[in-house]
Amino acid sequence: MRKPIIAGNWKMNKTPKETKQLLEELKPLVKGAKPTVVVCVPAVDIQAAVRATKGTAIKVGAQNVHFKESGAYTGELSAQMLVECGVKYVIIGHSERRQYFGETDQTVNLRALAAVRAGLTPIICVGEKKEEREAGYTNALVTYQTLIALEGMSESEVKSCVIAYEPVWAIGTGLTATDEQANETIGVIRSAIAAKYGKRIGNAIRIQYGGSMNPKNVKGLMAQPHIDGGLIGGASLKAEDFAKVVNYED
Ligand code: 13P
Repeated sequence: MRKPIIAGNWKMNKTPKETKQLLEELKPLVKGAKPTVVVCVPAVDIQAAVRATKGTAIKVGAQNVHFKESGAYTGELSAQMLVECGVKYVIIGHSERRQYFGETDQTVNLRALAAVRAGLTPIICVGEKKEEREAGYTNALVTYQTLIALEGMSESEVKSCVIAYEPVWAIGTGLTATDEQANETIGVIRSAIAAKYGKRIGNAIRIQYGGSMNPKNVKGLMAQPHIDGGLIGGASLKAEDFAKVVNYED
């Protein structure tokens, strides 16, 4: 059985002060929650988030990581820096980074390798654009994105990763993939991993859905057999909404 994982992606929202406020509100609402709960916060909010979640089950994640250990890479953060700050998870290859910051499947792979080797759990994002779905490329595309991202990892490293299937057309648009669409594409990703790394790994790896997931649609999505959780944008910015997503079984 795979343990569900609900992660908030705050994107470029919340100051350190607001981070503390939001997490203080969230803590009592998600106490004893069944899924793994993660908040992926802006880099400058990491310390406030780690402090606020101390002694709770909430894990703190970052939104990016560089692949080199150190050096002349202005504006970047190394995996070790994140680890020392108390970060446990890191989003890698979000479509916004691919779209606005030149992230490629190859840099996603390098970042994911650096993350797992430092002991961070990467949340690797894959997903198709609207025109790619309409042209019938979704399955080939998510397979390619996933396998390239995992290239060079051992079976146990692959197993420790989280994949987030986020159809680009569903992000921040209010459009969600239907439960069946999301399940089908996540099934394709799982099969691709199983074909390359074996059934055991394919069955064990956790794959989330992301894209306008909210308190209203979470239950239907989570009832699908391949969907192990969610990567939540907008609905993670209000404690009450995020808690409702986390507690989708209640
Ligand atoms: P929304 O939930 O705002 O659509 O964002 C999804 C997302 O990009 C999470 O990484």
